[in-house]
Amino acid sequence: MDAFRVTKHPVLKLKQNRKEIAFVFEDQPYKAYEEDTIASALLANGIRMLRRHEESGSPRGVYCNIGHCFECRVTARGEEGVRACLTPVEDGMVVSSGKQLPTPFKEGDQ
Ligand code: FES
Repeated sequence: MDAFRVTKHPVLKLKQNRKEIAFVFEDQPYKAYEEDTIASALLANGIRMLRRHEESGSPRGVYCNIGHCFECRVTARGEEGVRACLTPVEDGMVVSSGKQLPTPFKEGDQ
């Protein structure tokens, strides 16, 4: 679970001994620690693509990590458009990524 997690930092003091929790992303089980965001938990598990662009289908992931760009939108707790970089992951949480829409809206469509 910690292959991609920052465990030592020269400046920041990282919390130790946090409770391990489990969550699901795209029907696959993953581990995280309490106080992880969905984004940090996924990154720690090596998951970089959080969704597909609604129209082009291009992969999207964490960009700003401060809640401004909305590139990290996922569905969590049944709610669409949740920003993974701001939302704490919860034990038992089910998270899914955004998909490319089958009929992209084009300007001029009714
Ligand atoms: S990465 Fe920019 S809002 Fe989450």
